[in-house]
Amino acid sequence: MNYADVYARAERDPEGFWLDAAEAIEWDRFPSVAHSAGSDAWFPDGMLNTCANAVDRHVAAGRGDQAALIYESPVTGGFARYTYADLLDRVARTAGMLRVAGVQRGDRVIIYMPMVPEAVFAMLACARIGAVHSVVFGGFAAPELAKRIEHCTPKVVLSASCGIEPNRTIAYKPLLDKAIELSVHKPDCAIILQREQLRADLVPNRDIDWAAAYAVARPVGPVPVDATDPLYILYTSGTTGTPKGVVRDNGGHAVALAWSMRHIYGVGAGDVYWAASDIGWVVGHSYIVYGPLLAGCTTVLFEGKPVGTPDAGTFWRLVDRHKVKVLFTAPTAIRAIRRADPDGAFIREASLSSLSSLFLAGERADPDTLQWIAEALGKPVIDHWWQTEIGWPAIATCFGLGETQVRVGSAGRAVPGFRFKVKDDEHRDVAPGKVGSLLVEQPLPPGVFRALWNDPERFAAGFVDFPGHYTSGDAGMIDEDGFIHIMGRTDDIINVAGHRLSTGQMEEVIANHPMVVECAVVGAADQLKGEMPVAFAVTRPGAEDLGAVEKDLVRMIREDIGPIASPRAVIFVDGLPKTRSGKILRNLLRTLVNGEDVVVPQTIEDPSIIDALQRSIEHV
Ligand code: COA
Ligand code: AMP
Repeated sequence: MNYADVYARAERDPEGFWLDAAEAIEWDRFPSVAHSAGSDAWFPDGMLNTCANAVDRHVAAGRGDQAALIYESPVTGGFARYTYADLLDRVARTAGMLRVAGVQRGDRVIIYMPMVPEAVFAMLACARIGAVHSVVFGGFAAPELAKRIEHCTPKVVLSASCGIEPNRTIAYKPLLDKAIELSVHKPDCAIILQREQLRADLVPNRDIDWAAAYAVARPVGPVPVDATDPLYILYTSGTTGTPKGVVRDNGGHAVALAWSMRHIYGVGAGDVYWAASDIGWVVGHSYIVYGPLLAGCTTVLFEGKPVGTPDAGTFWRLVDRHKVKVLFTAPTAIRAIRRADPDGAFIREASLSSLSSLFLAGERADPDTLQWIAEALGKPVIDHWWQTEIGWPAIATCFGLGETQVRVGSAGRAVPGFRFKVKDDEHRDVAPGKVGSLLVEQPLPPGVFRALWNDPERFAAGFVDFPGHYTSGDAGMIDEDGFIHIMGRTDDIINVAGHRLSTGQMEEVIANHPMVVECAVVGAADQLKGEMPVAFAVTRPGAEDLGAVEKDLVRMIREDIGPIASPRAVIFVDGLPKTRSGKILRNLLRTLVNGEDVVVPQTIEDPSIIDALQRSIEHV
């Protein structure tokens, strides 16, 4: 079974291919067909429960004593190890707790929590009773949480008293209270996990103490749901201030993730798999929680950072201690480790014999970093590409299919089931080696989004530019050998330390400042984080204390979006470069801020502005 044969089979006989893949899942009703062209649904008449597949079936198969979840928290000194039997008990009782709170199949539950085991139990508990979870990254501020509460109208919110960053403890409750206040929709209740580092005051008649509710909860069994029922909604940045609620189904998701664990990552039951990400992102959903547990692996939940908790050796010591077979992280984490440990001394100190490979995704892996870590580890380092909408790797080196040939600068080849096209603005296929819009041909494979929550028009918009194709929003190039190279976004989304953020959203926040007339935010290249936002602002006449305005703008971004979106700089300018029709030339700003050679756009209204901009940038 090699990559080329498997890819060809998925092309030739997608029905047979995906029905075979579906055998890896335990169904309450096995699907009679894989894909329905009419409804574009996967396994349309199948019924299953994702939680039962991730938890119960492993206990039933006699692996109840195997570790399912290892919790390592260098920021608190916490450690826990849950077997599959423990996990079943915790998840079934958490599901019982949700039931008592009135949560039924189809109800939404927002989970706004730090990286603690209860957050994983909560996700699985929702899946168990057919409720739809929506995890909100803990680094988002109250207005972002409010938008999500407003949009998916949760019956219940699950949260914790605090999150812990290396330099401070973050009180979650005031952020949650503010978000509920801002939202027109009010959840019936909020169930709060009190952490000893900082306890929260509970709002009478609304907040429930997690421990107390859990203590009296009875275990609840898994509810069979339709394969097409939503499992979760995960909001991600679009080009506007309103996030996109990506909806993931149950059946296609379970089949795709189970397939990926074996064939992309090359792991199976009993192996230890660690995605050093956050449950608030798609990587956390797919490869901290669902993928490894569906495959019967041991998953690692890490509440810490790659450096500073306590040092750049944390990753390697944990790989050694828990005999991790596959590690998955963002290139930023490796850049941070390299900066702190340029000679790889910590890497040499650990025994990494269990490690088969390191996978990177979430942002561009620069060849220099890739080469450094590959040499330091002496193991295959595999870049792979996907996005929240896609849900699992679409471009990769399928390690589990025996592929190890990595082409530097490329994220790999199309994963079986995915058909990529690169087209130019005139909708023509470009020749191999030429850059254009990276598209995925329909029908999209299982696990890929088929809806945006309550937003069919925005969903459809992803398919209108190139009919019959999903527009990924990335520019790409496919070389003669089928290796796909990702060249960056074609829209106003940037990637800051692997966090996907919208510059349009930042502009909306900055434009709210009374002294700002106009603004533009672009992603500037950053040695550590890949990209960082840089804001350009034109102030009203009379604005004197620009230092104060800058402080305000940074504070507003932190309070409205979150500290992860903090701009690296705010540059005050007399005017923004525009086309004759008034469109801001953000590409030009990006080029200038990165100190790259400027090609003066033909459409620019006033070329003399470039010198002035250059001077302002040099000043900062
Ligand atoms: N909750 C609250 N605040 C958070 C947060 C969270 N979950 N995550 C980050 N923040 C805050 C940080 O405390 C920091 O605040 P500060 O400006 O007041 O110091 C700010 O957001 C920026 O954080 P971060 O982007 O993590 O930068 P950093 O300088 O603290 O750390 C790295 C740099 C490289 C160590 C860090 O970005 C990192 O671990 N990156 C890997 C990210 C990753 O795995 N992404 C998942 C993609 S698969
Ligand atoms: P997210 O939806 O948060 O996972 O972000 C997805 C985006 O991150 C993609 O559209 C890309 O722009 C970027 N990205 C993810 N993986 C890679 C990769 N391996 N190489 C380059 N960019 C990547």
